[in-house]
Amino acid sequence: MTDFRGKTAVVTGGAGGIGQALGRCFGRAGMNVVLADVLAEPLQEAVRTLADEGIEATGVVTDVTDWASVEALANAALDRFGAVHVVCNNAGTGAVSEGYLWEHDLADWRWGIDVNVLGVVHGIKAFVPILLEQGEGHVVNTCSGNGGFAPIARGAMGGPATAVYPMTKAAVLCLTESLYTHLQMTGTGVRAHVLFPGGFLNTGIWESWRHRPDRYAATQQRRTPETTLAGVVDRFEAAGAHVEFTSLDTVAELVIDGIAADRFWMMGPPTPADQVVSAKAASILGRGEPNYLVDVLGQHAKNASEEGGTP
Ligand SMILES: NC(=O)c1ccc[n+]([C@@H]2O[C@H](COP(=O)([O-])OP(=O)(O)OC[C@H]3O[C@@H](n4cnc5c(N)ncnc54)[C@H](O)[C@@H]3O)[C@@H](O)[C@H]2O)c1
Repeated sequence: MTDFRGKTAVVTGGAGGIGQALGRCFGRAGMNVVLADVLAEPLQEAVRTLADEGIEATGVVTDVTDWASVEALANAALDRFGAVHVVCNNAGTGAVSEGYLWEHDLADWRWGIDVNVLGVVHGIKAFVPILLEQGEGHVVNTCSGNGGFAPIARGAMGGPATAVYPMTKAAVLCLTESLYTHLQMTGTGVRAHVLFPGGFLNTGIWESWRHRPDRYAATQQRRTPETTLAGVVDRFEAAGAHVEFTSLDTVAELVIDGIAADRFWMMGPPTPADQVVSAKAASILGRGEPNYLVDVLGQHAKNASEEGGTP
């Protein structure tokens, strides 16, 4: 798809961060935009911001963990704009856990899996049949190098990093590869893509705990304070590393350019962190120890993440 004008994009997790930037980018390219998010007020605000720019945008309060809610989102998008051409399964939670993997709260696992994995499954199940019926369309699933490449298992400050988040993002990559293949098998023009946002991004994901739903309430007493982005930045700066945020518009451009070029892997230019992929492949093919987790990812973590290692 190279002509975006008059087409429709649906973006989950659209109330802020990457999702809102995607909506803005699609809108500026002349698309109708449906932003979906579980947070009603920020969603309204995000839609207003796009509308102020003259973008044809609407917001649908949606909980991606709930199948009926995602089905209702698809119906709402069709009712409003008559078709859907791009679906970004982008909603996500940091679901940051503390301690070692075996100490993580089960509620963290359930929350992370329900939003980051089942949310994507719901998006695929609700929208792909619509795209297939039209014979064209794009599904973009937001992944992360943390899990998509390999888990950041050791945090930058030396302690264990959450295993929940990377596990869910590994699943997103796997799901998207399967989706790509299944779509190819049908001979359709509908395409699947996976987004690796990359860089240090100033979004809400670092502080997902602020909007933790009651049904995923923690069942264990926390021993350490919740992560804050300001705290992460402070720790980096204290360690002598300058934190520079990548603009969210740059991430959104990866997506729109990737759709236009029909690129499966939506990634920025190569960085040293990419070495994780070749180090991992070498470890598997050499039947060796997963040393890349310590060597290369340890380095990557120092550059790109913090103790919890979320995004
Ligand atoms: N920020 C990063 O550095 C980074 C890096 C790699 C990947 N990602 C991924 O990018 C995506 C967007 O995250 P972001 O960084 O913009 O963070 P964000 O917190 O600003 O945006 C995520 C949005 O998802 C929404 N959401 C959470 N649970 C939901 C649910 N049940 N139903 C519907 N919406 C829900 C949140 O309300 C929020 O608006 C996520 O999938 C995240 O894992 C982020």
